[in-house]
Amino acid sequence: MRSLNDDPFPSTPGKVKIDRTRTLTRLLYRCLASTSSLFLWVLFLIALTASYLSFHSFVDSGSRFFTASWGGIQWEKQVRTSSQIRRSGGMSVLVTGAAGFVGTHVSLALQKRGDGVVGLDNFNNYYDPSLKNARKSLLNRHGIFIIHGDLNDARLLSKLFDVVAFTHVMHLAAQAGVRYAMENPSSYVHSNIAGLVNLLEACKSANPQPSIVWASSSSVYGLNEKVPFSESDRTDQPASLYAATKKAGEEITHTYNHIYGLSITGLRFFTVYGPWGRPDMAYFSFTRNILQGKPITVYRGKNGVDLARDFTYIDDIVKGCLGSLDTSGKSTGTGGKKRGPAPYRIFNLGNTSPVTVPILVGILERSLKMKAKKNFVDMPGNGDVPFTHANINLARRELGYKPTTDLQTGLKKFVRWYLSYYGYNHGKTVN
Ligand SMILES: NC(=O)c1ccc[n+]([C@@H]2O[C@H](COP(=O)([O-])OP(=O)(O)OC[C@H]3O[C@@H](n4cnc5c(N)ncnc54)[C@H](O)[C@@H]3O)[C@@H](O)[C@H]2O)c1
Repeated sequence: MRSLNDDPFPSTPGKVKIDRTRTLTRLLYRCLASTSSLFLWVLFLIALTASYLSFHSFVDSGSRFFTASWGGIQWEKQVRTSSQIRRSGGMSVLVTGAAGFVGTHVSLALQKRGDGVVGLDNFNNYYDPSLKNARKSLLNRHGIFIIHGDLNDARLLSKLFDVVAFTHVMHLAAQAGVRYAMENPSSYVHSNIAGLVNLLEACKSANPQPSIVWASSSSVYGLNEKVPFSESDRTDQPASLYAATKKAGEEITHTYNHIYGLSITGLRFFTVYGPWGRPDMAYFSFTRNILQGKPITVYRGKNGVDLARDFTYIDDIVKGCLGSLDTSGKSTGTGGKKRGPAPYRIFNLGNTSPVTVPILVGILERSLKMKAKKNFVDMPGNGDVPFTHANINLARRELGYKPTTDLQTGLKKFVRWYLSYYGYNHGKTVN
């Protein structure tokens, strides 16, 4: 018997219509059946591609921050050796931002007195990374191991605390600079907020918990007019995103102190300068430009008033950092739980004698024996404040902090280092 399907030419016209319709329906049904399975396949492929892409972008964004140059038996051995304490009553310190300006000096000073030091730095390119690499070589020569890693790498931090029972963390890693915040705001959130929280999470879970000393900034005093700035003054009018992230850091560290019993000391540094300094800071770029015969821009405040800073020499800051570590008191938590109140302290570390920018330029001119080509410009609203001036009574009392280097002496030392490092012709085009 032939089935309807087999008969493409039925005998009656009506039947033609019906049969044609049926055939079409069947065709359509088949077509739909294959389309829907095709559709399902397409959906499946899209899902597969999407999950592949999202995994890929996760790995990508991770690797952007976390170049996995850590781990392994040899790496652990280097970390352990570097963290070894060589004096009685000494400490083993994780120094974040160790390839930075302050981090390098603090690491060297700790190592010199017999403390164990392990450095951590992501070597970002906010300023010339070759300077950070040179600082790293200097630290390596003194037996200090620096890990190339990011504060936001939770696995790395947890591994580090597994390998070494750090007694202290000297947290100096940050996105510094006031003006750059208008160009790259997210870098401040990444390092100064997210990175800080990640570090505190690792510290709170570590057993034993380390004591933490970290760098806040004089910029938290923002637009305050009452001078000198005291720790009890208001800090709720920041003039830049940088200042706002430092202020947030003070609040965040307070929370971890309160909930988890972490011992916290926040240091408000006032314009630190000296050898191995930061190329983005005025005294550094002025030196470069004067030597190259290029003009320098000197900002002026309202009504042509000169800007002034409480310039603080690096050796004085280092003494303040070590004094803070020595007096920090213990964290009280274990297993991520608070067992009692722990110290929470904040100190100004300044020099107490502000100097105007034109006076700074004059000192540089005399040290370099060259005249600067000065362009005086009204200070733009880019986050700078007109003056800073520290009251250091609290640090004097609690830390024995006593700055001893005036700007003239300190700048001379900086210039000597600058010339030995870069030479007189740094950046000059050779004809
Ligand atoms: N130098 C000053 O005048 C001054 C003034 C006030 C406060 N501070 C603070 O003192 C600290 C040290 O400042 P500095 O002058 O040495 O600056 P710096 O830029 O030379 O050092 C900071 C280091 O941290 C590293 N870093 C940044 N983000 C990181 C991250 N997410 N993970 C790992 N490493 C990261 C950088 O690569 C850099 O080497 C900073 O917290 C800064 O905000 C400095």
